[in-house]
Amino acid sequence: MTDLLVKNCLLLQKKTPQDILIKGGVIKDIASKITVDNIPSIDADFHFVTPPFIDSHFHMDATLSYGLPRVNKSGTLLEGIKLWGELKPNLTADAIKERALKFCKWAIARGTLAIRSHVDVSGQNLVGVEALLDVREQMKDFIDIQLVAFPQDGLFRANCLDNLKAALDMGVDVVGGIPHFERTMEEGHESIRMLCEIAEKRGLLTDLHCDETDDPLSRHVEILALETTRLGLKGRVAGSHLTSMHSLDNYYFTKLISLLVEADLNIIANPLINITIQGRQDNYPKRRGLTRIPEQLTAGLKVAFGHDCVMDPWYPLGSHDMLEVAHMALHCCHMTGVDEMISCFNAVTANAASILHLDNYGIDKGSNGDLVVLQCKDPIEAIRLKPARLFVVRRGKIISSTDPVNYELNLGSNTESEDLLFKG
Ligand code: FE2
Repeated sequence: MTDLLVKNCLLLQKKTPQDILIKGGVIKDIASKITVDNIPSIDADFHFVTPPFIDSHFHMDATLSYGLPRVNKSGTLLEGIKLWGELKPNLTADAIKERALKFCKWAIARGTLAIRSHVDVSGQNLVGVEALLDVREQMKDFIDIQLVAFPQDGLFRANCLDNLKAALDMGVDVVGGIPHFERTMEEGHESIRMLCEIAEKRGLLTDLHCDETDDPLSRHVEILALETTRLGLKGRVAGSHLTSMHSLDNYYFTKLISLLVEADLNIIANPLINITIQGRQDNYPKRRGLTRIPEQLTAGLKVAFGHDCVMDPWYPLGSHDMLEVAHMALHCCHMTGVDEMISCFNAVTANAASILHLDNYGIDKGSNGDLVVLQCKDPIEAIRLKPARLFVVRRGKIISSTDPVNYELNLGSNTESEDLLFKG
């Protein structure tokens, strides 16, 4: 826990530049001019300062394994799952840890200080769980890791209920599932009932991979909403992916959305991955692989975004930049209205914090002394430029920093040198 004064910050809710005083790791004051002695300070230099980015959906046990044991030739979700199945028996805790720790450093440098990571519990052992519990502990001073017990190969299909419960007993935080991957619709429904009851009994949050398919008849989210309401879990359950909603009959969607609102179901979309994985069986026109984000926001649901993958069996790219995620969602969902662009920024910050039930998040007095100084002026410019993260601060301590990007152009007689080259 450290003290730090951050001067000349541009904040979302304030019209004039502000200083932020962090003492003992907590934001104590925000004012236009703060003068204190004997406290280290940094100058945000009139750049935009945001609470840290949050990744609501990731797979840290698979990250940075691209090419092991071979690459995904078709690029499809199903070949990715098959490929992961080939890799799984050879995984060791040390190898998973090494890759996950490296990945955490990438995330921190990009200003992401909380990640909800699914961890596969459907294999012969719980080596991934053991590894990521250790990573969560090792990194807890720098990044919050929330783990989800995820039966990748299906709760019933892979007969892994005991593994899932054992993972929760070991300290995994959230109940996961994959109903659309069970053998039948009925087994998918039954898995949802069982998983929600486990979450209710244990007092845990729930986050299911749900309807990650282009099949308009994949409607497990309806059952997820029903069980959420029946068990009194409102606001505590998230549906991840929900891509079949893209292809749903429009009339049915008008009924469904009211059920989601009734359940206060949280939505987690994964735009980078689903725009590449969905629509693979389509001829032209090819469907977009995203759930109905603008309609969900209009209905008042909370929507967050996840990165889902970085260089793994499902996705060969990525550097774990949540602004890249927001940028992709904004484009794929036609969200270029001003409020819509801000919503995309919120989906990787405040909304995500709310869905993950993180405490003391935000730039307010009494909040955690966590913030990111971006080399830009506001959230829309942040999405447009995906700028340098000049300082990443955790509980008042600078845990990552970089110099501002500065371009020097030599164009004949005029030499320009400025960081505002791409500013409108
Ligand atoms: Fe996922």
